[in-house]
Amino acid sequence: MKSASIALFMFALFAFGLPIFGMQTNSFQQPGVHGCIDECYESWRAQTGGILAVAQAQAAARAEASPAELGEASYAGCIACHGAAGEGGIGPRLAGQSAAEIVDKLLRYKKGETIGSQSNLMWAQAGQLSDADIDNLGAFVESFQ
Ligand code: HEC
Repeated sequence: MKSASIALFMFALFAFGLPIFGMQTNSFQQPGVHGCIDECYESWRAQTGGILAVAQAQAAARAEASPAELGEASYAGCIACHGAAGEGGIGPRLAGQSAAEIVDKLLRYKKGETIGSQSNLMWAQAGQLSDADIDNLGAFVESFQ
């Protein structure tokens, strides 16, 4: 009897407490990311041309970027093991290899193929890359020399 009423109490606490505390944390009173209204919004719009203009400018910048420039952004995740200039470290030296060699190896890692004794380190890396990423990385790595 006693444990049953404790269980009931705990259940009631949980059942009623959850929505009450939940609502508090989701309070509509809190200023959110969309708090920039009226004057604040108008001045942002005057400076940038609005959300559509921002999106168009970003798309135009991406379209104008060369494959090597796009590859540079993807290469950020490779620096820790291959060095900022492809000089090598944990992973082998990449500088001096042609784009075709780099692309070929990355595609093989992406398929889970073994190239050296530590290919397992590259499977996860290459698995995250799209074919376009791989082409761009090849172009960027080729620019090292
Ligand atoms: C955790 C460390 C690590 C990261 C991060 C990493 N690599 Fe590697 N990479 C290696 C290792 C180790 C090897 C050697 C694998 C083997 O034995 O086949 C390798 C091999 C390679 C090779 C083949 C080199 C050769 O001459 O055989 C290429 C190309 C390559 N990586 C490109 C990349 C690119 C591009 C990225 C970023 C998207 C990247 N790696 C991120 C560790 C890493």
